Amino acid sequence: MPKENLFLCMGSACHQLGVYEVLPKLQALLQAHHLEDTIELKGSFCLETCSHGIVMKFHDQHFLNISPQNIEEKFLQEILPMIQSSWANV
Ligand code: FES
Repeated sequence: MPKENLFLCMGSACHQLGVYEVLPKLQALLQAHHLEDTIELKGSFCLETCSHGIVMKFHDQHFLNISPQNIEEKFLQEILPMIQSSWANV
């Protein structure tokens, strides 16, 4: 099965909010949930919702207001369920 892309905005607004602190936490979360073989974490250009904190995207879904402090919670409550539900639809 090809890997699915999970995008993390690397645009300047998101960069200023600490994307480089979010990145290692996200990589650790993907590993902890054994997703390294199924999810490809990719940097993205500005996702055009700059006023909503750090932004991530999976399929058509945008995840907003991410910060280095809440990434774990956001991942568990919003992003992980979305990834799992995409498998259910295969
Ligand atoms: S810089 Fe991240 S959404 Fe614009």
